[in-house]
Amino acid sequence: MICAATSLSRVDLLVRPETPVDAAAAARLQSYAQRRIAREPVSRILGSRGFWTFDLHVSRNVLDPRGDTECLVETCVSLLANRSGAPLRVLDVGVGSGAILAGVLTEFPQASGVGLDLSREAADCARENFERLGLSNRTLVLEQDWREPLRERFDVVLSNPPYIESDVIETLDPEVTGHDPRLALDGGADGLDAYRSIASLAPSWLKSGGLLLVEIGCSQSESVTALLDAGGFEGIETRQDSGGRDRVIQARMRS
Ligand SMILES: C[S@@+](CC[C@H](N)C(=O)[O-])C[C@H]1O[C@@H](n2cnc3c(N)ncnc32)[C@H](O)[C@@H]1O
Repeated sequence: MICAATSLSRVDLLVRPETPVDAAAAARLQSYAQRRIAREPVSRILGSRGFWTFDLHVSRNVLDPRGDTECLVETCVSLLANRSGAPLRVLDVGVGSGAILAGVLTEFPQASGVGLDLSREAADCARENFERLGLSNRTLVLEQDWREPLRERFDVVLSNPPYIESDVIETLDPEVTGHDPRLALDGGADGLDAYRSIASLAPSWLKSGGLLLVEIGCSQSESVTALLDAGGFEGIETRQDSGGRDRVIQARMRS
């Protein structure tokens, strides 16, 4: 926040910490600090969040992309390493700021994809981020419910759906309850509503043998595995994030 308020670089701060700042910069920093004391996340104050290898614009109406979600991008990159030359069509269900799709497309120059989101603000934010990252010509953002049919089948489907139990939301930190949109958090009474939809709909989104990767809450591995198993997926495995918590489930459409 100091760098953003003063235009000093991190190196300036380290090597010349005594550099005086003008009154306007000091006032800006004071206002940032007051907002942070009121539990507004830094990414909301600055309108930007570092994710994967880039910075994303974060508007007021999208989920603040989390570091944990990089586990999904990482899993996708490792599973598709042998596809580096082949064209790849990717679907991001609940695209939000565009974090996941942007992460994967920046790693696979021959890949292109569709991001969809029910929220118009999220769709606008994803479009803006794809434009900033030079990905507009490889992306299409649809403002629609994931229950609406899609005209195409994809090689890969990725999703970080809302997965918090409705009753738990109000108990989370003020940074979350006061700033992340409820539509991005609320997974219904048991947190699994979105996975039920995905388990039943993903077979119509994927090509045969296609890859499904979903982010999960750290206690949801067993329930989501059961839903995907009942949905006819195979090779279902859970991956852990860098903190050792269950974070991503991978599965394949039967060939
Ligand atoms: C947890 S956020 C994930 C955002 C982004 N993919 C990320 O990882 O940062 C879930 C997203 O799903 C969207 N969403 C919720 N219900 C939806 C529905 N029925 N159809 C389409 N999108 C939906 C929300 O608007 C939100 O942007």
